[in-house]
Amino acid sequence: MTTLATDAPPSPPAGPSRSARRRRRATARVGWLAVLLMSLTIVAYSAVPYLMGTLEQLDPDRAPLAPAYSHTPAVVQVAFVVHIVGAAVALFVGPVQFWAASRRRFPGLHRWLGRTYLVGVGVGGIASLIMAPYNTAGMIGFLGFGTLGALWVWTGWRAYRAIRTGDVRSHQAWMIRNFSLTFGAVMLRTWTGTLVAAQAFAAGDGFDFEAAFENAYNAVTFLAWVPNLLIAEWMIRRRGLPSLQIVDPSARVAQSSERR
Ligand code: HEM
Repeated sequence: MTTLATDAPPSPPAGPSRSARRRRRATARVGWLAVLLMSLTIVAYSAVPYLMGTLEQLDPDRAPLAPAYSHTPAVVQVAFVVHIVGAAVALFVGPVQFWAASRRRFPGLHRWLGRTYLVGVGVGGIASLIMAPYNTAGMIGFLGFGTLGALWVWTGWRAYRAIRTGDVRSHQAWMIRNFSLTFGAVMLRTWTGTLVAAQAFAAGDGFDFEAAFENAYNAVTFLAWVPNLLIAEWMIRRRGLPSLQIVDPSARVAQSSERR
């Protein structure tokens, strides 16, 4: 018996197979869990100890930058504490926002946590720009942390603008970029430990902790966030989200309609 073309079993859909998609989803879930745990660890171990007293009272072993900032002008001391609170809120809330199931099931919660996250980024970012000239790494820290702070506020603003104009896909892309910068707080500590350990391994008996820490800290002023941003851009392209546009398209539309 001949089989009509319409009776033939449907050809498999183009693109990755079901098992490949399942594997990709499982990898994404493990990655997300790792990001969540690392973020919570840094909030608990790096940020919370700074909230246990005044800068003069804090234990330098738990809050190592407290002595340095206790000698800065009052406005910088306030910015330092405000930075830690705002940035810690962003790092705490950020990973939850990338949990797709929670976005679908509780869109109201996603909106409120999103606002909380962006307030944390705005407040923490502006405070970081006030602190940047006083940072303990000098000129390289001023350039590295200063650029990071400016990009942090700008990408947060672009993510907010995108969602206010209903452009969900651009919002997702800007939020991926923004959180990759927030995650710089985790990578800063990870890279510092790794670079100090690598120098200890290379130097053997002649290891000088102070010098190794200074080398590592100078490097992480950029290393903490530049690779994150490149990975974010790669993730954005892989998901088919809009690639980087420096000028806000909604601002361009508004300008051209004003001219008319
Ligand atoms: C992404 C943008 C960020 C910028 C531009 C930034 C900038 C800075 C700067 C300039 C310092 C002082 C460094 C020094 O003087 O050596 C600092 C310290 C600190 N920041 Fe941030 N930061 C950012 C994100 C975060 C996040 C997300 C957290 C969340 C935990 C955080 C928590 C802290 C803490 C706890 C300190 C005190 C230093 C320590 O003990 O590690 N920052 N930040």
